[in-house]
Amino acid sequence: MWKKWFSRSEPGEHNNYDKINHEKLPRHIAIIMDGNGRWAQRKGLPRALGHRAGAEALRGIVKAAAEMGIQALTAYAFSTENWRRPADEVQLLMSLLADYLDNEINELHQNNVQIRFIGNIDGLAPGLQKKIEKAQAQTAHNTGLILNLAVNYGARAELLRAVKIIAEKAVHKELALQDINESIIEENLYTAGLPAPDLLIRPSGDYRISNFLLWQMAYTEFWFTDINWPDFKPVHLVQAVYEFQQRERRFGGIKNTKKR
Ligand code: FPP
Repeated sequence: MWKKWFSRSEPGEHNNYDKINHEKLPRHIAIIMDGNGRWAQRKGLPRALGHRAGAEALRGIVKAAAEMGIQALTAYAFSTENWRRPADEVQLLMSLLADYLDNEINELHQNNVQIRFIGNIDGLAPGLQKKIEKAQAQTAHNTGLILNLAVNYGARAELLRAVKIIAEKAVHKELALQDINESIIEENLYTAGLPAPDLLIRPSGDYRISNFLLWQMAYTEFWFTDINWPDFKPVHLVQAVYEFQQRERRFGGIKNTKKR
């Protein structure tokens, strides 16, 4: 089992961890792991080392999220637009993913983590697809943290795919037009069955959504930090959750919903 971080630490060591309300945790946290390149550049290192350090940061955050009792963590590892990067960088990101699965899957499994992938997995190399299928099958019955990795993922492509699936059912009269509703759309997204993210974390000082979970994030709270992803530590996750808990979420309603 993973060693406990937060519960072993001195009070205050993890800043606001002792102030977190464990009854009101975000159920689902989404993370855009941005800033690997800038982290490397600032240290005079090749971008590849930034991505390696980014993969390391993810390892720490997965443990921290599991310990905190978060239900689902979705991390953006490779977008449908990332294919535009130089071939050697794409290759490196794919091999980091393969290494992550080779090296981490047993530990994730032992710690009851269920690993899932969202995105167009069919568009990946056959060897990587096999590792993904194996990892998903091995951990499918785990009941702890759901670790969702977005790979070859784009929200527009996800919505387009859902529209096509639904349209096909309509054409074949398996679904009537009047029965198409928000639930039907949700059921045909990669994230079917998961709660929508309550909190999005975007490090590295950019304030964009970058084609990530566009449908699902309609009412998500956003938390930004200038820290680059490789420097993102459990203490920052704690800070994001703490600040999330200070926010008032109205979902389009008003603060006091009691009848006046
Ligand atoms: C964005 O930083 C990051 C990515 C496109 C890749 C994220 C991948 C990892 C953290 C590692 C591999 C993942 C796993 C699951 C092992 P950037 O390169 O755009 O940074 P920059 O904007 O500073 O250049």
